[in-house]
Amino acid sequence: MSSKKSIMDYETVALDDGKSALVIIDQTQLPYNTEILELTKQEDIWDAIYLLKVRGAPAIGVAAAIGIYLAAKEIKADSYDEFYQQFLKAKEYLASARPTAVNLFWALDRMDEVVKANQDKSVAEIKELLHKEAVEIKEEDIWVCKQIGEYGLSLVKPGDGLLTHCNAGQLATAKYGTATAPMYLGQERGYNFKIFADETRPLLQGARLTAYELHESGLDVTLICDNMSATVMKNGWVNAVFVGCDRVAANGDTANKIGTSVVATVAKRYNVPVYICAPTSTIDLNTKTGADIHIEQRPAEEVTEMWYKKRMAPDGVKVFNPAFDVTDNDLIAGIVTEYGIARAPYTESLKEIFAKKEAA
Ligand code: MRU
Repeated sequence: MSSKKSIMDYETVALDDGKSALVIIDQTQLPYNTEILELTKQEDIWDAIYLLKVRGAPAIGVAAAIGIYLAAKEIKADSYDEFYQQFLKAKEYLASARPTAVNLFWALDRMDEVVKANQDKSVAEIKELLHKEAVEIKEEDIWVCKQIGEYGLSLVKPGDGLLTHCNAGQLATAKYGTATAPMYLGQERGYNFKIFADETRPLLQGARLTAYELHESGLDVTLICDNMSATVMKNGWVNAVFVGCDRVAANGDTANKIGTSVVATVAKRYNVPVYICAPTSTIDLNTKTGADIHIEQRPAEEVTEMWYKKRMAPDGVKVFNPAFDVTDNDLIAGIVTEYGIARAPYTESLKEIFAKKEAA
């Protein structure tokens, strides 16, 4: 038996209590270099989120929860007010790392609620409760992904061709992934899916991360360039598209990695259903429509050089580099959550999903 550790044996995001560190795999180095980072400084945690060393909406949420706990742990304050003031500063700082994935704000707000609900406790006790909450946020994410896997799997059949865009895999979550959860579950149950992974320019999360983790796990994955999705769909090789999301608006409009809306538009042309795999932590009922979602603009060099500092475009050329686009709700066949599958009209069905969550 080989003793080589697979990428699937690593935790995407973890808390090392002994070292008071957020532990992540530096995803900018994958697939060739598996570098584990132990981050203790807030600036380094902010940088890791901004620079996509840890990325994918759920993983960003978990990293932020652990990050704010580590910040809170360091606060030297005798009174609640003093503590809370410093906590809010740290929260604001981490919240500024990336604007689109709502999980960042969702996780920080959850941690904030813990502080606000325990004003009568000592600062030491509040720190303990924050630790508990951060660990819970991570554990919940594992359960959520498993549930999404079950619901997602109910939408397909053995031997199906599946296409995915970007990385909504284990590397984007605490475990299993969202869009990949049905794939991993299907593998356990002998479904023999044929999976197409879009490379996902500009930063190649599909090629570097999705193709890597699926291939390492022994799934049948074929890497394609972003401009090949029409070809594989026209050939009849794709029965369903599963993608993740960074923010789902109340009407079902969905922000996900740039290019998702292209895939969805092409899929509509070829009658391939597009399913958004969405933990409820990524659904933002306070955002009415896709037009209200703040789309992150990223540096031009990501398009002209990626991280390799090797220029592939003329100096001085203008670049447009939005990190995400919005897929209109009419292109979406269903939104797969941990509490079931929402169908159009989403304004109603997403509310029902949250009612189920409340009742659980
Ligand atoms: O810029 P990234 O790599 O953080 O973008 C990630 C995506 O768009 C994912 O599809 C999304 O966050 C869902 S991850 C389960």
